[in-house]
Order: sequence, then C-alpha cells, then structure tokens
Amino acid sequence: MCGIVGYLGSKQVVPLLLDGLKRLEYRGYDSAGVVVRQNGDLRTVRAEGKLEKLVQKLEGKIPPGTYGLGHTRWATHGEPSERNAHPMIDSKGRVAIIHNGIIENFLPLKRRLQDEGWSFSSETDTEVAANLISSYLEEDLRAAVTRAAGELEGMYALAVVSTVGDPEIVVTRQGPPLVVGFGDGEQFLASDPAALIAHTKDVVFLENRDVARLTAEGIEIWDETGERVERPVTRLNWDPIQVEKGGYKHFMLKEIHEQPLAVQETFAGRVDFENQRVLLDDLNLDPDQARAVSKIDILACGTSWHAGLVGKFLIQGLAGIPVEVDYGSEFRYRDPIVTPTDIALGISQSGETADTLSALEAAGERGARLFSICNVPGSQIVRMTDGVIYTHAGPEIGVASTKAFTTQLVALYLLALYLRQTRKGGIEPELLQALAHLPAAVDEVLQLEPQLERLARDYSRANDFLYLGRGLNYPIALEGALKLKEISYIHAEGYPAGEMKHGPIALIDEDLPIVAIATGERVYEKVRSNMQEAKARDGIVIALTDREPAEFEGIAREVIQVPRVSEELQPIINVIPLQMLAYHVGVKRGADVDQPRNLAKSVTVE
Ligand code: F6R
Repeated sequence: MCGIVGYLGSKQVVPLLLDGLKRLEYRGYDSAGVVVRQNGDLRTVRAEGKLEKLVQKLEGKIPPGTYGLGHTRWATHGEPSERNAHPMIDSKGRVAIIHNGIIENFLPLKRRLQDEGWSFSSETDTEVAANLISSYLEEDLRAAVTRAAGELEGMYALAVVSTVGDPEIVVTRQGPPLVVGFGDGEQFLASDPAALIAHTKDVVFLENRDVARLTAEGIEIWDETGERVERPVTRLNWDPIQVEKGGYKHFMLKEIHEQPLAVQETFAGRVDFENQRVLLDDLNLDPDQARAVSKIDILACGTSWHAGLVGKFLIQGLAGIPVEVDYGSEFRYRDPIVTPTDIALGISQSGETADTLSALEAAGERGARLFSICNVPGSQIVRMTDGVIYTHAGPEIGVASTKAFTTQLVALYLLALYLRQTRKGGIEPELLQALAHLPAAVDEVLQLEPQLERLARDYSRANDFLYLGRGLNYPIALEGALKLKEISYIHAEGYPAGEMKHGPIALIDEDLPIVAIATGERVYEKVRSNMQEAKARDGIVIALTDREPAEFEGIAREVIQVPRVSEELQPIINVIPLQMLAYHVGVKRGADVDQPRNLAKSVTVE
C-alpha cells in the first residue's frame, strides 16, 4: 500500500522522512522516494524495491534541506520502477507531488495536457496531477492544488511542494486518509498516524476535500467550499496495540475501513488502462491455455466460498465458461467429474484451510490444473498450485473476513476479465472504468456507518435475522448472515429471495428483521415483490438498495441506500453495510468481535 510522509521545520528532513517511511513498511510497497527543496530546486531521489535500496542510494549523499516529502509506492498505473516511483516532478520542474489512490479520469486529463504541450516521463496517473497542478501554478500553490483537485475524479491523497514562494507543503485528500501533526515550530504529515507518533501526539485527521497548508508558522485548513476551518485536534495517547489498530476500536473495524485502498491494491499494476488489458503474470495461464479451459471448479470454505459463488456469475457472464462451486469439505465426497481441460481454483484468505487444500488435491488427482486466489504469500495453497492471484489485502487480523472477501471479489473480476480478453478478443473500456471507480464507491459506502450503528442499536436484541438476495446478491445475503452469526451470535439465515415462499416465510413475524438486497436492474422488481410478501406478514423489512428510498415507502421500515456501480461490482459495495451492521450489533451485544468464540483465523483441520 502506498505510504505518505512529510516534514517542514528546522531539522534535516531526509532522515525524518526515512524514519516515517520505515514505520509504514508493514504496508508493503515496490518503490520509494523522497524530495527536498534545495536552493530553489526540487531534488528527488527514488529507488525501485525496498526502502533499503533508497537508503543505500542516499548513503553519503543525503540532500540537505528542512522540508520535503517521502513516499512508498504500490504500483497502480505503470509497472514498479524508478521511473514510475514518487515523488513525481512536473515537466516544467516546478512542483513535486506524492499521491495515494487512483485518478479515474487520468486519461482525458493526460490527453488534454499533452495537447497543451506538457510532457510525461512515466505511465502514472500521479504525473498527470503533477502537470495539472503546475499548469495552474502562479504565485499561490494552495490555489493551484485546489483548482487541480477540483478536476480530479476518483480517490487521492496528495502532498505537494513547489519551487515558488516560502517553504510550504500543500496537501489534500478525497478518500485515502491524511493526517497532519503539530510540533514546536515544525509540522508533519502522513497517510497513517503510525508514522507520526514518535514525533508528535497532536494531530488532525483531514476531512474529504480539505486542503491544508503546512508552513513554519503552523497548519491552516480550508474545507471543500474554500472556507478556512478549524478541525478538532486529536491527542494520540496510543499504546502499541492501538497503534497497530490505527486508532480503531477493533481490527475488524479497521479492516472494514481499509477496503477502499485494499480493493485498489488488488487491481493495482494488473490493469493497463491505456491499452485496455488485464495482466495476470502470477497466474501462469497463457492465452492458449485460457482458451482451452472447458470448466472451472471453484473450491473454498466459508466467506471464501461466498466469493466463489459471486465468481461463478462473473466468470460465466463475462467469459462464458461453465463454473461449479463447491465447499472444500464436500467436493471429494461427491465423485466430481473433472477432465484435464478443467481448472480447479482454490480461494483462501489464509492459504492454509485444510478442507480447501484437500479438495484441490482431489481435483489435481483427477487431472485438473490447479490455481489459487490467496492473500498470504508463500502459504500452502500457493505452493501447491500452478499459479495464483494474490489479493494484496494486507494482513487481516480480525477473525471475521471483511477486506479479504471484497478483494477476493476483485481478484475474481480480474480473472473473469482476463478470460474474456483471451476468449472474446478484448475488454470493453467501461468494464475497466468501473474498476477504476470502485475505490471511490467503497469509500462512499463507508459513510453510511452512522446509519448502520443506529440500526444496530435498534435491532441488536432480535433473536433471528433473515437476509435475502437474488442473482449476484444471493451470495451477499449469505455473507451478511454469516457475518452476523459469527460476530454477534444471533442466528441468521441467508436465502435466495425467491425461495423465501418455499419455507422460510414461516419464520416471519413482527419481531424478525429481514435485510433484503435490491440493487441493479435484472431482479430488482422480483426482490421488491419478495419484500412486499415479507411486509404483508408483518416482518421488519430493511431494504439495501441503490434506488431512492421513496420507492420503498410502505414496504421497508428502513432503507440503506448504497452507491450504484456496475452490476458485476455491486456485490462489493453491498456487502460493506452488512459487515458494518454485524460489527455494530456485535459491539452492542458485548461480543468479542475480533476473536469470536469457537472460531480460528485459519482452520487447518478437516
Ligand atoms: C468468515 C471466515 C471463514 C473463512 C473460512 C475460509 O468470516 O473468515 O468463513 O472464510 O474459514 O478461510 P480461508 O479463506 O482462509 O480459506
């Protein structure tokens, strides 16, 4: 994951930047760099690989200076290389910028800037932002950053220094976090407070679209309307565990909130947005082999199995390949029919789940080639399969899977697109644009948390819950129910909405909350009818929808309105409120949400 640090004060900046970057090392990255303003010029030093490489490069020639920026990069646009590493300098050498996130409209902006005579030396979206800011720079860096940010679509946390004016750093964010810290005559900034607490405890977490200016005198902040604002200062009296939890009360909550970046990192470096291609190098499935695949057997357990069910829709829909999905624990006991042109795809966060591994083994014995989707490098599943798509979700500590699930869905989407590209001759740009927009939509859906906390308070005493969905949202209903069971110990059922009338309808009374997922077009009307059936039996209907709440008047007692994304990616958006609901119900009931009773993070017994 990308990391951002910055300092402005009277000390030598580069050692401070390196120290901050070191504290962000756990996030993983593929290149790093620093920039310092020196005698009116911007000096950058960048290196591909670990921070150690940058340190070696700086040995004996640390550029002097008392303010600058540091960055660790996880490639999104353009391969990991020194050329694509941050900080990026614009083609007139006037601003240096570091960036977290993804700029969705980078291509039209790039074309426009090229027409205006700006040149580009990297494939990054960051360089587009650098040139754009420079194109607006006269005297006032803040004005240039504000104007440029107004044209950027997507998610970004940006920090900028320039060659003009007195020492200053200007930052802004939309989505990814940015925190600024106050010292005595010195100011700090970082993407994660973990990088700051050795130096200052007084910090401000910037709001979306805030623009802040760090100078020797202090930090000034403007909100999205351009008004000067005072944001509350938070005092970070964190113990080491709180540092690890990033200030969140539980790992599960932290991991839920990491999803905008986590989903981005799953597709980072794997999509060539300019040439509309998906690149899955670690998969080891060349185009000829991909064309020869006759069936895919997805094997997984628990939440990963739910991801597999969504994967079936994606792969069949986008690539036209038949898919079967089995529980790892069931597959080998049903005499499955597997041929040598089949592939078996194991999905496992941990890569160590015994049932999934045994099922893969059984598929391998029957002649299938084996592949995996996994979050843990070097785990057993990776070692036993021919190729892998890593989810790059970062460590998941909470026992209940959250970001591992949504990143598995992104990995499956990438796989489906890769298969479409090889078998159908190409990928439509809108399918990739939908992916570029996903992190921003995930960020948006997280803003629903206060509503979900309120729902959790109102319904935490229920004895049962029913979750309904159809099509791609049926696995999401299953996942919503599983999360609630695990975290709050409330009994919950996930059901295909159309099946309700064949049995579960008998459960409905005035005490039963029924969470019904009604998004998209295909089965929307059907699910709405199912909700009406539930309402007619006095059930408490909670609609999760991408439509206006007014459409559910007289049917739903509560409406959770989520942002609309493409049909294929909508399950990723829909599951997040259900994760938050389960989390807050668990907390209200006093459960140990990070380590629910009887559960383990990796289940290595059959
Ligand atoms: C649920 C959960 C489990 C796991 C299952 C498989 O929140 O975490 O259901 O999904 O045990 O684990 P992995 O994905 O590690 O194979």
